[in-house]
Amino acid sequence: MKFFIDTANLAQIEEANNLGVLDGVTTNPSLMAKEGIKGEENVKNHYLKICSIVDGPVSAEVISTEFDGMIKEGIELAALHPNIVVKVPCTKDGIRAVKHFTDNGIQTNCTLVFSVGQALLAAKAGATYVSPFVGRLDDISSSGIELVAKIVDMYSTYGYKTQVLAASIRSTQHIIDCVEVGADVATCPLSAILGLLKHPLTDSGLATFLADFKKVQE
Ligand code: G3P
Repeated sequence: MKFFIDTANLAQIEEANNLGVLDGVTTNPSLMAKEGIKGEENVKNHYLKICSIVDGPVSAEVISTEFDGMIKEGIELAALHPNIVVKVPCTKDGIRAVKHFTDNGIQTNCTLVFSVGQALLAAKAGATYVSPFVGRLDDISSSGIELVAKIVDMYSTYGYKTQVLAASIRSTQHIIDCVEVGADVATCPLSAILGLLKHPLTDSGLATFLADFKKVQE
């Protein structure tokens, strides 16, 4: 399973990239706003900075809600760097835009997906990635991971090439759940990725090894 980091914070992106296991980055307008990135030029420069850190797909989301605006924005974003993936919301105009980008060789991430039906439309439009939002479904007492599993099954049944990118991942357990249902990608906060490292037996085992080594040195 691939790991993307879900942030626009450059320090966190660098820290995750330095682990050597990072495959890409996803952002969204809220994450950009959280970093205080305002204005078209600053936003574009920020994407370029991210692309200079990580050698992998970087999702950059359009702000327009109607087809023509999405196409204009998406073409500009895709022209920034070969690793840019244009992120488009799963709406009527968004699905049309995904199809248009697919037909023109531009990679897409169809986002804000909360149902199997939406994921079906994204795949039929040729999306490179589909982003079911796990945490936000859990927030309303619906199972986000069950949705990821259903989409994985549906794509496998029909042979769709769209990759299932589990988004709105909030915890390390969510990552493990994604592994169990066969998600292609999980896009995660840094804390959830680092959580995978934690095990008390690793800590106590290492402490014992070091203490024993010290004894024979004395
Ligand atoms: O990848 C989508 C993600 O950024 C949304 O996460 O935690 O705002 O639901 P969250």
